[in-house]
Amino acid sequence: ADSAMDVDSKFPPLLNDRLLRAARGEPVDKVPVWVMRQAGRYLPEFREFKTKHEFFEICQTPELACEITLQPIRRYPDLDASIIFSDILVIPQAMGMTVEMRPGVGPVLPQPLVTPQDLERLSFPVDVSTSLKYVMDAITLTRTKLEGRVPLIGFSGAPWTLMGYMIEGGGTKTMSKAKKWLYQHPAESKKLLSMLTSTVVDYLVEQAKAGAQLLQVFESSAEYLGPHLFNEFALPCIRDIRLKVKTALEELNISVPMTVFAKGAHYALEDLASTGYDVIGLDWTMDPVEARKRVGPNVTLQGNFDPCALYASPEKIRDSAEEMVKNFSKTRYIANLGHGIYPDADPAHLETFLKAVHSV
Ligand code: CP3
Repeated sequence: ADSAMDVDSKFPPLLNDRLLRAARGEPVDKVPVWVMRQAGRYLPEFREFKTKHEFFEICQTPELACEITLQPIRRYPDLDASIIFSDILVIPQAMGMTVEMRPGVGPVLPQPLVTPQDLERLSFPVDVSTSLKYVMDAITLTRTKLEGRVPLIGFSGAPWTLMGYMIEGGGTKTMSKAKKWLYQHPAESKKLLSMLTSTVVDYLVEQAKAGAQLLQVFESSAEYLGPHLFNEFALPCIRDIRLKVKTALEELNISVPMTVFAKGAHYALEDLASTGYDVIGLDWTMDPVEARKRVGPNVTLQGNFDPCALYASPEKIRDSAEEMVKNFSKTRYIANLGHGIYPDADPAHLETFLKAVHSV
């Protein structure tokens, strides 16, 4: 068996543990707040950096990924967490697929999986500790450079969301090519999902060993699946990831809370609450009071301010943010947006949002 690892002793002591306390269900002085895509194009310092470096160059260079991760932390003293700068599509890359990030377009995979025979093109099993070593190095460096100011979140895409990009070859309105696999090739779809599940498990465990203090699983494409497909193809992988990561980390004596964010999966809230994740992320379409009723008291909720509500006036932002926190209550709650912040958001409006959350 692996020997116990004392990861925390390698880093400066954590000075702000609100996020981890809320994730574990412990009382907090103020509601912790962070924002998906908090390091991104809405920040002038990010856009300036992007004139000199390409997206995946930043992801693959620990010093650059660290610098970008720290940008929002420097700007906003109210942020209670950092999230490592990377992308969910590093996993398809590690499995041998080409992924390009085209400015103004988003991710493009020029040779997507077309038929089940294409599974043979994938490298599997993946030794993530070598092929994604740059992510672990970025995590270790960033946690050191954070000097304990806030915890560092690691993340991965969930298998169905990754499968979607690998088959569609990029973003899509319908996911119809990937869903066609689910209907026409269910066994091969499950094979691919299981390859992804085991890769994601190893990847998240390595991130925790490298210093990640919370792990978030992004099932951003849950909205394309109804309850039937979600229960058959997505939920079992999400459940498996939680179980296997938890078991592996317990053996190493590492305790790291886990979050699942299944965008658009309002139909699956009760099922998600039964998967054992410490935190469930909600998109902005869900009502806080209703969501709490449905999941019960033993899980932390995260979310769910409409990213577009940041276009409102500062007064309106303040009012709606305070109302949101009151509706969720300060127990077992982490404030966030209901999805990533948009590139045209006003950085000053984000500050208003963060301060409003802390004012409650
Ligand atoms: O949240 C953070 O600050 C950490 C960094 C992060 C990025 N991508 C950086 C990024 C995280 C957590 C992700 C996850 C990710 N990537 C998801 C899941 C979360 C979600 O948004 O649902 C998904 C689906 C992807 C795939 C991806 N990467 C898409 C669809 C896009 C294009 C979106 C867009 O806004 O153009 C990206 C690009 C991307 N990932 C950017 C950033 C900062 C923009 C890159 C640029 O500068 O052009």
